[in-house]
Amino acid sequence: MIENFLPSNQKADPNDRVDGRAKVTGTATYAAEHKAENIVFGFLVGSTIAKGRIKSIDSKNAEHAPGVLAVITYLNCPKVPGYQTVKDPSKPTVNQPLHIFHDSEILYYDQPIALVIADTYERVRHAATLIRAQYEKAEHHTGMEENMSRARRPSDNESNDYKRGEEDAYKKAAIKIEQTYSQPIEVHSPIELGSIIAQWEGEDKLTVYTKTQGVQDTQQAIMEAFKIPLQNITVHAEFVGGAFGMALRTWPYEIAAIIGAKKVGRPLKIVLSREQMFTNVGSRPTALQKIGLGSTHDGKLTGITHEAFAHTSSNEEFTEAIVNISRCLYACPNVNTRYKVVPLDVCTPIWMRGPGEATGSYALESAMDELAHALSIDPIELRLLNHADVDPESNLPWSSKYLKECYQMGAEKIGWNQRRQQPGTLKEDEWLVGYGMGTGTFGAFRWGAIVKARLSPDGNLLLQCSVNDMGPGTATMMTKIAADSLGLQANKVTVDMGRTGLPAGPTQGGSATTSNVGSAVYDVCSDLKIKIAELAGKDGSVFKNANNNNVKAEDLLFADGGVSLAKDPSVKASYSDLLKQNNSPALEITKESKGDGPEQKKYSMRSFSTHFVKLLVHPATGVVRVNHVVSCADAGIIINPKTAASQMIGGAVGGIGMALMEEIVIDQRFGKLINNNFADYHVPVNADIPNIDVLFVNKKDPYTNPMGSKGLGEISLIGMAAAVANAVFNATGKRIRSLPITPDKLI
Ligand code: MOS
Repeated sequence: MIENFLPSNQKADPNDRVDGRAKVTGTATYAAEHKAENIVFGFLVGSTIAKGRIKSIDSKNAEHAPGVLAVITYLNCPKVPGYQTVKDPSKPTVNQPLHIFHDSEILYYDQPIALVIADTYERVRHAATLIRAQYEKAEHHTGMEENMSRARRPSDNESNDYKRGEEDAYKKAAIKIEQTYSQPIEVHSPIELGSIIAQWEGEDKLTVYTKTQGVQDTQQAIMEAFKIPLQNITVHAEFVGGAFGMALRTWPYEIAAIIGAKKVGRPLKIVLSREQMFTNVGSRPTALQKIGLGSTHDGKLTGITHEAFAHTSSNEEFTEAIVNISRCLYACPNVNTRYKVVPLDVCTPIWMRGPGEATGSYALESAMDELAHALSIDPIELRLLNHADVDPESNLPWSSKYLKECYQMGAEKIGWNQRRQQPGTLKEDEWLVGYGMGTGTFGAFRWGAIVKARLSPDGNLLLQCSVNDMGPGTATMMTKIAADSLGLQANKVTVDMGRTGLPAGPTQGGSATTSNVGSAVYDVCSDLKIKIAELAGKDGSVFKNANNNNVKAEDLLFADGGVSLAKDPSVKASYSDLLKQNNSPALEITKESKGDGPEQKKYSMRSFSTHFVKLLVHPATGVVRVNHVVSCADAGIIINPKTAASQMIGGAVGGIGMALMEEIVIDQRFGKLINNNFADYHVPVNADIPNIDVLFVNKKDPYTNPMGSKGLGEISLIGMAAAVANAVFNATGKRIRSLPITPDKLI
């Protein structure tokens, strides 16, 4: 249960995080922190080769080590019933998820080959070092560039080639840009490591505390693997320490914990090491993108070609919408996109904030900057010249679009008029100064959710939904919407969420949770108001006595923890008094809110963002210092400016990492990661992050949902890497087309 932290005699700011105190004082309980009696510890041992077979495993020494209860390998692993049917040799290679400990096959470096279980964490870490394996190596393919010949079209229809107008029209244009942009594998680096506690009760009842973005998805995945009744599986994820897409699937380590817990008949905890986070929970795919842009002499786009190659694993096909941004961001008659995957012997990739579009916008928005330079016009002017007034892909009107406002407010705040069109000409002391910008967009989605609301005779409101919060502040958003709707102080609202058994909420992802669950909260509160009005119209109520025989919700004001007559606010009652007057039990409503319907299909619904960067580059050392970031968003109405700004800041930080630091390096001789640790894989730290200003258009979208909000999480990052790269060009005149832009590339 998440209760507001402020004592009830203080007026809470409804924008404050309701779980803030629990998080900063350590009382928020994350997956690995739950207590279970007789708990044991598991640790996974990984393969040291990238491809081949296990010839033999010697686990004797580990089994005899102090405190060890069991060692599970493919040789002795109890059968996972779902594995027998899922693995299908008749299927092409595209959908064969790793079946942990199922056979001797090795698909990627550090793939788990053994689970060691012991009575303490220290003993299990020691015993895990005693496992010895012999392998039969096969030829591995782990480098994108070396394996471009293996590129293939994805099997799903969504990734089909796209064309409107003439193909490759840019080639005939008066002015053309034709460039290739590359980016390496980026890994998930949330503070919370992948963690799970699994506890069986008898043969077919299971409770897990695990890191997931969707407790019901996890419940479903466990049911499919272990073939036990869905209702016998309880999944808890009340607190998640950052996930950003990595917890949108159930990973083999979670299955391993469930297998192990059953084997030893005790609750079992697995916490991945930081090194294992680099190898076993996916990544943003590495990508190579070719962009062709053609325009007239005065900057009107005549052709866009966007072709992308991105890696997937050899056993599963992971695809994302890398090229789709080029279909809809600018008004251009001739657009074609192509997308291919390159299978590599690595862990299957996974969604990462701004999935697809963060990659695509890096290439498109860099190329737009190159075009602006070739035309000698301001990059913002080029974008305004090609602004899409309707969605050029679907020809549908936008549900709302305030991108021009984003350009304007961002330019003003960063001081865009200080920017020189000629790169390398602005200096502060010995540092070169550059300004850059990039645009982001992402679909605004809404799908269904069920929320239960209970208004008690003590005037407190309880909201229940199984949705869980990977960090953005979902409970706070729910609290705020309910508090605003019913005129309650935030500290009167309690949110119960993040576990199965509650009314069905969606998985958190795709920037949609506020639209999904927030709408359901809004709707359930609207229904609650009708029930409150019914009570107000009952005999004996102060409202009825005030000559209102038929009190309706529209006649009432909902404020100050109660209700009053709109035409005579002196006639009022607190919720508590109203319920007590009527001897009413708690008012309870469970409401299902549906996702997008036919009305929404008449519009193209997207969020938009612009990112502005001012940075300094040292000409002698190539060091880049980001000096100021301004991120602007058109995300409809902003429900909570505080948590929304936090989202935007986090996304900007992620974009700075993508642009300047993050890069997985694989030693291609062995197919092995060589920088799977935070000493060698750099993420932005405090000293890398400047002042980040966040600006919102904050205008209601009439169609997306009852509040008029649009998604925010993804657009906070989409366009950011291009903004940094464009600013580096503006500072130095050097166009770096391979991320990350490290100092060696600038000297
Ligand atoms: Mo998000 S990348 O949908 O967690």
